[in-house]
Amino acid sequence: MTDRNIVLFGASRGIGRALAEEYGASDTRLVLCSRDFDALEELCAGIATRGGTAWPLRCDVTDPDDMRRAVDSAREHLGTIDLVIFNAGIDAASWMKDVRTGDWHRIHETNVIAMVSAMERVFPVLIEQGRGVFAGVGSLADVRGFPGSGAYCASKAAVARLLESARVEMRSHGVQILTVRPGFVRTDMTAKNEFHMPFLLSPGRAARIIRRGIAKRKRVISFPLRLVLLTRLVGILPARLFDMLAARARPEQRA
Ligand SMILES: NC(=O)c1ccc[n+]([C@@H]2O[C@H](COP(=O)([O-])OP(=O)(O)OC[C@H]3O[C@@H](n4cnc5c(N)ncnc54)[C@H](OP(=O)(O)O)[C@@H]3O)[C@@H](O)[C@H]2O)c1
Repeated sequence: MTDRNIVLFGASRGIGRALAEEYGASDTRLVLCSRDFDALEELCAGIATRGGTAWPLRCDVTDPDDMRRAVDSAREHLGTIDLVIFNAGIDAASWMKDVRTGDWHRIHETNVIAMVSAMERVFPVLIEQGRGVFAGVGSLADVRGFPGSGAYCASKAAVARLLESARVEMRSHGVQILTVRPGFVRTDMTAKNEFHMPFLLSPGRAARIIRRGIAKRKRVISFPLRLVLLTRLVGILPARLFDMLAARARPEQRA
């Protein structure tokens, strides 16, 4: 399937930027949203020099007014919306001995509630059109609660369930919901990780896999395969065995 008119949330860096470059190299019209407007302008200019069409939009996804304005502007630029990709996300170490409600709020605001906010604005448009695709970016980390990543894993588990229930409900309205579950990708988000990241991918490679999965309308796009298989195994480990292996893989740093 070819998606021509695309809205991408979280486009300034990392996987989102690579997705914008990937789609921008073909006959698409992109609306790119993030907080870093300068980065988006530069990205759009690069896409334009290669013959593509892209508009930058400053948007903090956690601000409902920004979200409303972004979707309104996207409609003005694009007319019909074929594909919305919600890729914006944040991560932060969250060791439970230092647990702070504020940190959990921040991560869930961006990764979960902002995705719901995008759905709130976008679903009526797609339903009115009678067609369209909403792809949400989750993570293979949704499979268990890894040490030091409780807030992130919980947020991505929530994203997985959110997209799953939306997928079933929206089908009768002609709207397709896809879940993107990347493994480790080399971006600002993972640059601070001190633990070993198996099967690490470049953002460009991740973007190509995501684009292919979206074109095929795969309901769940999980990659890379070797980490998918490993996380499936981790997902069914009994609690006692999981605890032992997880504590060894990610020991808590003691000051
Ligand atoms: N890297 C990985 O290994 C990995 C693995 C699995 C899943 N993921 C998921 O993939 C997505 C992208 O991750 P990444 O690694 O590319 O991260 P990244 O390099 O840190 O980029 C994050 C993107 O999200 C945007 N963003 C964050 N908060 C935002 C906000 N409040 N409003 C608007 N945009 C916001 C950022 O734009 P601004 O800062 O300009 O706003 C940026 O474009 C995330 O959902 C992440 O959880 C990543």
